[in-house]
Amino acid sequence: MNKEFPKDFLWGAATSAYQVEGAAETDGKGLSQQDIINKERNEKFGFADASVASDHYHMYKEDIALFKEMGFTSYRFSIAWSRIFPNGDDVVNEAGVQFYRDLIKELKDNGIEPIPTLYHYDLPWALVEKYGGWLSREVVKDFEIFAKYVINEFKDDIKYWITLNEQSIIVQYWTQKCYVLPEYQENNQLRYQINHHMNLAQATAVKYIHEVGGLAGPALGYAPVYARTCKPEDQLAALNANDLRNTYYLDVYFKGYYNVAALTYLKQAGLAPVMEDGDEAFFAENISDFFAINYYDSQCAHACPEGAERSWSGYNLSGKKGDMSGFETHPGFYQMCPNPELRTTDWDWAIDPIGLEYVYRDLYTRYKIPFMITENGLGAYDELTADEKVHDDYRIDYFREHIQATKRAMDMGVEVVGYMPWSAIDLLSTSNGYKKRYGLVYVDRTDEDPKACRRIRKDSFYWYKKVIASDGVDLD
Ligand code: BG6
Repeated sequence: MNKEFPKDFLWGAATSAYQVEGAAETDGKGLSQQDIINKERNEKFGFADASVASDHYHMYKEDIALFKEMGFTSYRFSIAWSRIFPNGDDVVNEAGVQFYRDLIKELKDNGIEPIPTLYHYDLPWALVEKYGGWLSREVVKDFEIFAKYVINEFKDDIKYWITLNEQSIIVQYWTQKCYVLPEYQENNQLRYQINHHMNLAQATAVKYIHEVGGLAGPALGYAPVYARTCKPEDQLAALNANDLRNTYYLDVYFKGYYNVAALTYLKQAGLAPVMEDGDEAFFAENISDFFAINYYDSQCAHACPEGAERSWSGYNLSGKKGDMSGFETHPGFYQMCPNPELRTTDWDWAIDPIGLEYVYRDLYTRYKIPFMITENGLGAYDELTADEKVHDDYRIDYFREHIQATKRAMDMGVEVVGYMPWSAIDLLSTSNGYKKRYGLVYVDRTDEDPKACRRIRKDSFYWYKKVIASDGVDLD
C-alpha cells in the first residue's frame, strides 16, 4: 500500500464568507441574516458580531500568500449572496461580483483550486423582511436567480461546487443558523419545512451546475450515531437517530427521495414538511455528484420511552466541559446522550477519528460516491505567547488522527478527493465567537476588540506545510 496520498489529492482548508470577510456593508453589500443574528448574539452573550470578522475582504491577498506558503492546492470559501444581490432580488452589485472575481483569480494565480460554497447560512436580510426568508417557498425562486448567476459567471474557473452548507445542523439549531421570526419559533414543523425549501434550492443548484459541466456536492455536518449499549433497543434507537439526523438528507441528495422511516416518524409526530407534486421527482432529476463531509465528531443515542418530552439539540456557550444545555429527544424514537468512551473538546464535542473512518466506509457502501472533506477541526482556546507563537499541538494531534483515518479508508478502496479542514484562518465561530478558534493561522483580535486582525502562523501551520509537502506521509 502506498504511504503517500495520490499526487492530485486536494490539500487545503476552508472558511465561509460571513465568518471571515467582515466588510458587512462595504462596496454595496446588503446585510445578511447573519449580520443581524450575530449583532443580537453580541448584545446577549458578548460574542463578536460579523461586521469585521477576520477582515478577509481587505486581507485576502495576504491570506492567499499564507495558503500558498503552506502548499495548498485547494481552498473552500463561500460566496455571500447579499454581496452579489444586496436585496436578494435580481439587481446585481457589480463591486461584489468583482471581489469574488479577484479572489478566484488570486487563488488560481497561486495554483490553488477555488471551491466555492453557494450558501453558508447568510441569506440576504431583505428576504427575511420580505417573506420570512427560508420559511417561505418563495425563497427558492430568489435562490435560483442567485445560483444561476454565480454559476454562469464563474463556470470557467470552477470544477467542484459546494451547494448548501449543513442543512441538518440548520434543522437542529434553526434560530442560530437562520433568522426565524419570534412568532414562528415554537412551530417545530417549520424546521423541516425550511429544510424542504433548502432541498429544492440545492436541487436547483445541481441542475445549473450540471448544465455548465461542473460537479455538485452538498456539505453536511455528518456525525455517525452509535448506540450507547449493545441492547437491541439502543441499537434500534441509534438507527432511528441516524435515519432522522443523517440519511434523511443524504437520501434526497443521492437517491432523490426522503428516507422512508424518518419521514414516517415526522408524519406521525406532525413535523413532516408540506410538499408539492413533483418535488421528489425534481430531486431525483438532480442527483449530486460527490459528498462534501463536514466531520467534527460522532454522536451517541439510546432508546427513549413514548411518554418522554420532545426536545432539540442543546449547546455549550461557556466552553466549560459538561455545560451542555440538553440533548435531542424524540419520544419513542431515540434520545441523544454523551458517549462515555470518548474524549471531548472544551465545548463537549466528542473527538473520534475512527468515527470518520466509519463514515467513509458506511457511506461508500451505501451510496458509492466520492468524498471531499470540506470541514474537520478542533475548536479550542488558543494562547498567543509573548514571543508571538501559538503552540496548538492539540490541533495537530486532531488533524493527524483524522488524516490517518482518511488514508486507512482510502486504502480500503474509498474515493476521497481532498481534505479541507476547518479552518484556514481563525474566524467567527457560529456558536462561540472568537474565544473558540479553529484556524491554522491566528487572527489577532478578540470578541471585544477587532484590533488590526494581524495574521500569525500557528504551530499547526508549519506542521500542515510539512504534511502537504510530503503528500501526507510526514505526520509527525
Ligand atoms: C460547521 C459550520 O457547523 O461547524 C461552520 O459549517 C462552523 O460554519 C463549524 O463554524 C464549527 O462550529 P462552531 O459553532 O464552533 O463555529
